[in-house]
Amino acid sequence: MNSENRKTEIIKIEEDFFENLLKNDGIKLGAKLIKNGELVAFPTETVYGLGADGLNASACAKIFEAKGRPQDNPLILHVENIDRMYSLIDGDINEYRKLMEELWPGPLTLIFKRSKLVPDMVTAGGETVAIRMPINDIARALIAAADTPIAAPSANRSGKPSPTVAEDVYEDMNTRISLIIDGGATEIGIESTVVDLTVKPAVILRPGYYTKEILEEYLPGIEYDSSILEDGIIPKSPGQKYRHYAPKARMTVYVGNSEQVQKKLLEAVKAEKLNGKRVGVLIFDEDSAPEDADLIIRQGSRNNLREMAHNLFTNLREFDRKNIDEIIAVGADMSTGYGISIMNRMKKSASGRVFLLK
Ligand code: TXA
Ligand code: MG
Repeated sequence: MNSENRKTEIIKIEEDFFENLLKNDGIKLGAKLIKNGELVAFPTETVYGLGADGLNASACAKIFEAKGRPQDNPLILHVENIDRMYSLIDGDINEYRKLMEELWPGPLTLIFKRSKLVPDMVTAGGETVAIRMPINDIARALIAAADTPIAAPSANRSGKPSPTVAEDVYEDMNTRISLIIDGGATEIGIESTVVDLTVKPAVILRPGYYTKEILEEYLPGIEYDSSILEDGIIPKSPGQKYRHYAPKARMTVYVGNSEQVQKKLLEAVKAEKLNGKRVGVLIFDEDSAPEDADLIIRQGSRNNLREMAHNLFTNLREFDRKNIDEIIAVGADMSTGYGISIMNRMKKSASGRVFLLK
């Protein structure tokens, strides 16, 4: 099919039992397209994925093309049950069984030594492979029906915020892919936690829903990759080194003492308005909104980081849709693991412009 004049089809699927989903026409079509080497976007509990047959190198190559993704950034293989992963990895992983059985299916990606079955296109030529078993029923049904591991990065154009609703996928992928399966808004809103199990102690390469505190119980001594807490170090997870999650607007984030943050917010909006900019603010319910802002988006209560994460990427895309030039945002408290996960995304969206006020 010629990618220039292809129209991307969207099929809406309502929540249903896994067994019923296997018989759903949208799932059947999606599975057929995957088997034919085409690309299908689908919901997971974290963000929408851009799926291809993970054992078909030329299908996976299409993912890089559709996303504009650098070739050295490997893909995650999504499986439907633990047994399906053994052929993809090499070595004894018995010591991780409890971790896999209790936290899978769920928003957790594990890095193992790869087997020969996995195409170089998936691992970017490396000796490791990332595997995840999602809990979203539509995702699980699609993988089961396609009867192959599905390679799937987030379904955004490279560099943009990850899509958490089908409309966001359409915005980035219309004409580039065959089908979008619309399963409504994703539950979590930020991507899975990526953990490298090929080193000891294990290392968190990308923080996410499962925090260090939760993972410690299964992986004693687990640490964040140094780049997550510090600046200026090239990360080990290749995807972490690129400009990421970025709206078109320039973004600045303030965190810390809430009175100082509130004061700074008003000053920053005023200054940007004097520069003639269209200014958007991303604030908590507890914050008072600067009157002169062009767009005010509330990200929930500062005590409800789940809601903040759920809406973060959609909110960033909304500023772009409203042609905002400057986003002034209030960031999450980083004293909890989930705050670290959210700020990891915000810091990248803001190209590092995060200021801690005391
Ligand atoms: O929640 C998620 O993980 C979503 C949904 C669709 O499952 N997927 C996702 O994929 O976020 P992507 O490609 O946008 O991010 C995958 C991250 C990247 O940072 C990539 O570099 C890293 O995982 N990664 C993949 N394979 C790796 C490997 N073998 N070693 C180290 N990092 C790897
Ligand atoms: Mg991504």
